[in-house]
Amino acid sequence: MSLPPAREVAIQISRLNHFFGKGDAQKQALYDNHLTVHRGEIVIMTGPSGSGKTTLLTLIGALRSVQEGSITLAGTELSGLNPAQQVEMRRNLGFIFQAHNLLDGLTARQNVRMAIELTATPRGDYDRAADAMLAAVGLSDRVTYKPRNLSGGQRQRVAIARALVNKPRFILADEPTAALDKDSGANVVRLLRELASNHGTTVLIVTHDSRIISVADRIVNMVDGHIVSDLRIKETMVICAILKKCSVFKDMSPSDLTDIAQKMIEERFDAGSDIIRLGDVGDKFYVVASGSTDIIIETATGTRAVAKLGEGDFFGEVALLKDQPRNATVTTREPTVVYALSKENFLAAVKSHKSFEEQMANILFSRG
Ligand SMILES: Nc1ncnc2c1ncn2[C@@H]1O[C@H](COP(=O)(O)OP(=O)(O)O)[C@@H](O)[C@H]1O
Ligand SMILES: [Mg+2]
Repeated sequence: MSLPPAREVAIQISRLNHFFGKGDAQKQALYDNHLTVHRGEIVIMTGPSGSGKTTLLTLIGALRSVQEGSITLAGTELSGLNPAQQVEMRRNLGFIFQAHNLLDGLTARQNVRMAIELTATPRGDYDRAADAMLAAVGLSDRVTYKPRNLSGGQRQRVAIARALVNKPRFILADEPTAALDKDSGANVVRLLRELASNHGTTVLIVTHDSRIISVADRIVNMVDGHIVSDLRIKETMVICAILKKCSVFKDMSPSDLTDIAQKMIEERFDAGSDIIRLGDVGDKFYVVASGSTDIIIETATGTRAVAKLGEGDFFGEVALLKDQPRNATVTTREPTVVYALSKENFLAAVKSHKSFEEQMANILFSRG
């Protein structure tokens, strides 16, 4: 047995600032932003108008040059790229922007086909691929229409087909469903989910559309050029499901559980690793997500495993509650994933949640 693969980082943003204008007229649009997005994640960006969402999206899309800070896409740094390198970078990306720039002289099929021709794929049946993609957005009966003969929503769907037809590694979308009716919007959301799940496509969408929010792995909220919150929706739900199996958390309300889950961080260990060691200062509380561990104590005659922990079991609380060194070593029996809560967050949770505090008092009593 081995550890499930660690999630690949697709987008890494650090210390990102951005300015428009020069001299006295200079205005800062982004302030010291940090963000990590994993491969195959669907990230929704929300925030009021003027908060910097489009600026951030165009920087990630190599449509603007990075001025200060760093953005890497699948490990490639965007800062310092020359225009030709930016163009090359954009071949990995599918853009769905509000001004969708369809070519008026071309039919829907030709517009989508052009996106295929621009990539270096070997010659194939481009028309068939274009038609299949147009069918997926519900436009089978419009492939020979030119943009002027399509409605706003239909043009938007051609633009979406064009962005998705090459199955890009990244999709950047700015309000992609704004012009769409309910069914077309749901269809687009389903397509994005499929690409993310089946092809590991990483999707960043600026939207306030609640239909999209329901498929998001993460929601990033921006205000005045700052990322003010970054909610890991799917991961938080997974952690909550594990916490619910854990005796101390089982009486907690969903909102209290979610509070705690959002503060927990995944840590991964190979077989035979010490997660905590006897005598060390305790700084974290742990819940086992998968795998198993032995609790090992020291006796007069040597060390002895006194218990085995598995999924949903927890450890590490005694040193935090009593402010004492670790009273045991916890070693993994196999590759193991745990969720860790810092001492500070753990003590805050104990304080604010009555049932948790009572349970912890009982555990301290029974574990000595
Ligand atoms: N090309 C530009 N020139 C000058 N200021 C700009 C430009 N684009 C955006 N801004 C300013 O930067 C800030 C963020 O804009 P934007 O990224 O478009 O926000 P959002 O997409 O969240 O509405 C706003 O104050 C906007 O006026
Ligand atoms: Mg915008």
